[in-house]
Amino acid sequence: MQPRRISGRIWVYDTDGNFLQALDTIELTQLLPLFLNRAASTSCPTKLVDLGCGTGRNTLRLAQLAPPGTEVVGVDASLGMLEAARETIRKATTPGEGVSVPVLLDTFDLLQSPPAPPDCTLGATGVISTLVLEHIPVQQIFEGAAALLAPGGYLLVMNMHSDMGAISQAGFVDTATGTKIRPTSYSHTVDEVVDAAQKAGFTVGQMEGERVRERLVDENLAERLGKRAKKWVGITVWFGDSKPWICGFSRPDDREPL
Ligand SMILES: C[S@@+](CC[C@H](N)C(=O)[O-])C[C@H]1O[C@@H](n2cnc3c(N)ncnc32)[C@H](O)[C@@H]1O
Repeated sequence: MQPRRISGRIWVYDTDGNFLQALDTIELTQLLPLFLNRAASTSCPTKLVDLGCGTGRNTLRLAQLAPPGTEVVGVDASLGMLEAARETIRKATTPGEGVSVPVLLDTFDLLQSPPAPPDCTLGATGVISTLVLEHIPVQQIFEGAAALLAPGGYLLVMNMHSDMGAISQAGFVDTATGTKIRPTSYSHTVDEVVDAAQKAGFTVGQMEGERVRERLVDENLAERLGKRAKKWVGITVWFGDSKPWICGFSRPDDREPL
């Protein structure tokens, strides 16, 4: 299947004050180093994949934090997003900018069935997928991740919470036309997500007794997230799985559960 051009201007996601992205960024500051430790323990060399990489926001963070010898791959169904991601990585890999691991970008449409991930993603030891699940049927993210993860590999999933999804959906303003664009949106509950993960052969990890981390916006958090977060005070808006990752076993018998 040919990759679909979802939108040529979709990268305004990064510049229109999207508070879920801001929250995701805050959470990832703590979570990404923990996640990378796990992924690095599975094998050497390490391959990390950003599933639904968008503009490369987190592909770049993976590349900045990854130890030498790691390969980083960002995949997305949108050619416009991949183009923007290429620019993000290009800017960050100018001499002296500190990204020393190779970064590849390729197309992968999670709606393909059966999943057909590009060769460069195969054997991944760690996969992250941030704010993508909202746009696809729940089982397809896990089937897609399972198709490219090495046995014992890990998957970290972060998404809009269904409490927020019940009253809202992703949208952004196309700066060229001023029109509001609303991509397809699903409001998956945490239980549905965990269930789909388990059906695809994943084991949900637990650390410090926290299986799935959920975030409710309070006044303090709203201050940190910017003006678009204010109207969400009192609403649970974000979750990440299992303190917070969903730990993926493409062959569950290969490793002890966390
Ligand atoms: C809200 S953006 C998140 C981007 C990035 N992960 C981040 O956190 O900044 C959602 C991304 O999912 C991608 N996406 C939507 N449907 C997809 C599909 N069927 N297969 C792969 N990627 C998809 C979109 O192109 C977009 O880049």
